[in-house]
Amino acid sequence: MSSVFETATTPAAIPITFVTKSTWDAIRNELPAPARQFAEANGFAAKPGKCLTLPAADGSIAQVLFGLEDETHKARDPFRPGALPGLLPPGVYRFANAPHDTRLAALAFALGAYRFGRYRKNEVPEVRLVPSDGIDAAEIARMADAAALARDLINTPSNDMGPAELADAARELAARFGAGFDCITGEALEQGFPLIHAVGMASTRAPRLIDLSWGDPAHPKVTLVGKGVCFDAGGLDIKPSSGMLLMKKDMGGAANVLALAQMVMDAKLKLRLRVLIPAVENAVAGNAFRPLDIFRSRKGVTVEIGNTDAEGRLVLADALALADEERPDLLVDLGTLTGAARVALGPDLPPFYTNDETLAADVAAHARGENDPLWRMPLWPAYDAWLDSKTADINNAPSGGFAGSITCALFLQRFVEHAASWLHVDIYGWTPSAKPGRPEGGECQAARAIYKLLSQRYA
Ligand code: BES
Ligand code: MN
Ligand code: ZN
Repeated sequence: MSSVFETATTPAAIPITFVTKSTWDAIRNELPAPARQFAEANGFAAKPGKCLTLPAADGSIAQVLFGLEDETHKARDPFRPGALPGLLPPGVYRFANAPHDTRLAALAFALGAYRFGRYRKNEVPEVRLVPSDGIDAAEIARMADAAALARDLINTPSNDMGPAELADAARELAARFGAGFDCITGEALEQGFPLIHAVGMASTRAPRLIDLSWGDPAHPKVTLVGKGVCFDAGGLDIKPSSGMLLMKKDMGGAANVLALAQMVMDAKLKLRLRVLIPAVENAVAGNAFRPLDIFRSRKGVTVEIGNTDAEGRLVLADALALADEERPDLLVDLGTLTGAARVALGPDLPPFYTNDETLAADVAAHARGENDPLWRMPLWPAYDAWLDSKTADINNAPSGGFAGSITCALFLQRFVEHAASWLHVDIYGWTPSAKPGRPEGGECQAARAIYKLLSQRYA
């Protein structure tokens, strides 16, 4: 736990005053004359993202001014205050007035203080925030801590984050919360989970299925499945170098289901949690699986390999089939599955899929509420036929390449039959260039929105 929140009462906290173009005049007139002159001399115009520290008579920082979009601005960023930790000198701060959304501003501040520091001393901002009255700082810290876990796991390069290390991270999380832990490998994996084995067998780092469980078995069953491809070279249908560059992040689904699990367990939600992570490396070797190979999946459905680079849906298929066997009340899977999702919606707006209308509405509402954006896309039935294979029940990579994120979702749907409700999210798991509250690199996506949904349903 490394919360940025200051819980001891510190009367010395430096006030941060939020200003917009329309509030600036009134706020400026309230400032002591020297401070007003200082702001004017610095050309401070209350532009969104602009930050100015105002000196006291003794030269210390008396106050901070920070510009926000006007209340009516079309593209108002509720995470704008997330830039503050990167701008402020070390110190203890408090909000002097209300930003557009005080809770999201505090969350953004906490998320914006993250830095990845495993391989060199990184300047972690030495800023602390006294939470505003009425803010549940513990809940915000829970979300920020979970985001840091997801980001650390994704940012860790593949040489230090293979299937074994990913399993270690899950084992540590299980130990911390007294959860059950199991990891299936070797012969049992080959027999029970042929697709996970097929994808992972070419790597010197053996594939495995991580299985964590927690909570009262009498509570509603919620199962989370995360794509844990620790590196995706593409297999024999190898990726070009540009496409391969970021593929350490291909375990972003796993990282985010672990982050979500951490929030659920920390908040002690009244549900029976299960987390399944197929952890593999999609490598190139003489024993790699090949285009047009056919495997009988765990569910019995035979799968023809159209492209070895469509490996995420393969490993998820066997994990979803296992999850589905115990008829969970809610089955959720997250994965960095398609480039097509990024073509459709860009890196910051992952598509989600479900046929449960109530769930869809709830996911959309919580995504908006937590500023963890998600956008519904359809499980378009007419495209299901594109999965047809001439020799097997189904092909993993429809030719044509149209609607790639949808056809991936339709592929996964074939493996979900008994779950009362199913949600699939095709995440990106990465912030390509820093934005307020979102440092460049591994990103926590969908976990906060789904956590809020779960905490509303199973408080
Ligand atoms: N991990 C990739 C998808 C990906 C690529 C996510 C880049 C985010 C950024 C996935 O395994 C993949 O390679 N998908 C292929 C599927 C295709 C072969 C049907 C894709 O999207 O090109
Ligand atoms: Mn791939
Ligand atoms: Zn992949």
